[in-house]
Amino acid sequence: MNALTLLKEDHGHIKKMLADGEETTERAEKTRTELFERLKGFLEVHERIEEEVLYPALKKKPKSEDIAYEGFEEHHVVDTIFEELEATPVDSPEWTAKFKVAKENIEHHIEEEEGEMFKMTRQLFDDDELEQMGTRMQEIKALAKQVEASSPA
Ligand SMILES: [Fe+2]
Ligand SMILES: [Fe+2]
Repeated sequence: MNALTLLKEDHGHIKKMLADGEETTERAEKTRTELFERLKGFLEVHERIEEEVLYPALKKKPKSEDIAYEGFEEHHVVDTIFEELEATPVDSPEWTAKFKVAKENIEHHIEEEEGEMFKMTRQLFDDDELEQMGTRMQEIKALAKQVEASSPA
């Protein structure tokens, strides 16, 4: 599969989970916790496939080096907000506010990726290269699923 198609599909899932998360209330602790765990796990693997496949490829080209560094930094910001969310009681107004900020950050990041970054990627890499990247991403995803399945609950 083309790497950009795969990433866009991921983005669709992420946006859906963010929208669902924003609808949860402080009283719906269990729903909120489950959704957050699902989103966190999915986002971790999504960040990983970008950081191990797409970003390094972009970093190697002078034209896209800056945008790759920006991507790494934006992931870092999101990771930090998620760490704070984990340390915040899920039934508190702080959690609600932090989740909203996380959502805005991630949505903005996705917009930048699907805009400028993917446009540049299509200019710099041909279809074969994008297919190869997609295959590597699928391998990483499959491996992450295996690890998850074999880890004790
Ligand atoms: Fe990203
Ligand atoms: Fe992404």
